[in-house]
Amino acid sequence: MDPIRNPFAPGAGQRPPELAGRERELSAFEVVLQRVARGRPERSLILTGLRGVGKTVLLGELRSMAVKHGWGAGKIEARPDAELRRPLSAALHRAIRDLAVRHRAPDRVDEVLGVLKAFALKASKPDAKLRDRWQPGIDVPAAQGRADSGDIEIDLVELFTDVAELAADVGTGAVILIDEMQDLKAPDVSALCAACHELSQSGAPLVVVGAGLPHVPAVLSASKSYSERLFRYARIDRLDRDDADRAVMAPIEREEAGIEPEALDALFDASGGYPYFIQAYAKAAWDAAPADPITVKDVQVAAPEAEQELAVGFFGSRYERATPAEREYLLAMAELTQGRDEGAGTSDIAVYLGRKPSSLSPARDSLMKKGLVYSAERGLIAFTVPHFGHYLLSRRED
Ligand SMILES: Nc1ncnc2c1ncn2[C@@H]1O[C@H](COP(=O)(O)OP(=O)(O)OP(=O)(O)O)[C@@H](O)[C@H]1O
Ligand SMILES: [Mg+2]
Repeated sequence: MDPIRNPFAPGAGQRPPELAGRERELSAFEVVLQRVARGRPERSLILTGLRGVGKTVLLGELRSMAVKHGWGAGKIEARPDAELRRPLSAALHRAIRDLAVRHRAPDRVDEVLGVLKAFALKASKPDAKLRDRWQPGIDVPAAQGRADSGDIEIDLVELFTDVAELAADVGTGAVILIDEMQDLKAPDVSALCAACHELSQSGAPLVVVGAGLPHVPAVLSASKSYSERLFRYARIDRLDRDDADRAVMAPIEREEAGIEPEALDALFDASGGYPYFIQAYAKAAWDAAPADPITVKDVQVAAPEAEQELAVGFFGSRYERATPAEREYLLAMAELTQGRDEGAGTSDIAVYLGRKPSSLSPARDSLMKKGLVYSAERGLIAFTVPHFGHYLLSRRED
């Protein structure tokens, strides 16, 4: 069918044509927004899940909801080895600008911007050449003596408090959304926890909403033991059959086309309900269909095409990032789990490779740092990428 009208959207952070199966998270956030704006205590929300389940998309949706409620909102993507201070400054700048539109006292807004600037200027300079060039882009003089101690934990509490006050003035709140939260550096995690803790105690209307891989809760609780009480974790997972069907059917129907029930069966078989795969297979099936409706035959014809694209865009790009030693480790995991999406025992991997467990730690740690695997529970290691084991085994056969 007409590729120009193809509604499906495989791609990182791509808004899907139908956001299926996330009603629970959306309505929970609605409650958070309303409660926080009324000064009621609420825990910050953290979305966890495997690669491609729709965390980034959902985070974007929560951001839009907050903005619609008149909140100030700013979004960040954490990166390994990068400090939080600079991207956080940009995100808070954005949130303050959202709030400024509704704020009646421009002087007060400028005061908070001055504190933000002071905070931003404490960012450590990555290299001397950038030193003079980097400017936070805030048009007011930096304040002095607030949020500029250089200790991120102290500074964050002060800055968050000021931004929350600004939000309280306009009767709403502020939200900072942090994607790829597992990549935050330890001091930044600890500062964020401390700031959220402090703010929730004072009932200040600022919340942090995070998203990251399934081991984010472990990262946070390793930093602050009280983090379990501070955050509410929502596991974002594959869609069940009904939601997966809706994700496919609703966009097709909006284009006034159809799909046969057997074709839906075949799509669900291929995707396993994983949102990224749903988009990839449905997109290929649409393109492969010579006529409306899409049939099971079209899905079968399209599958190799979709797999080829996934092999490059979804799996391959991640595989490329692994060193030979890390690839050997990944393949051992795939062999031991026979390509199923489950954890492999670290000691079994060592036995399988005929190595001492300790000699494999560097490969494993580095794979964890690259976000390719995570420690599912003690002694078990699993892929963060669904169907990755299957991909590795099929690759080996080629
Ligand atoms: N609820 C949903 N219904 C249908 N499709 C969805 C849904 N959520 C996400 N998708 C689609 O799935 C794909 C992956 O979404 P997204 O990038 O948000 O995943 P992610 O969990 O952030 O992945 P990663 O961990 O790799 O960053 C996108 O193509 C998106 O359009
Ligand atoms: Mg993402």
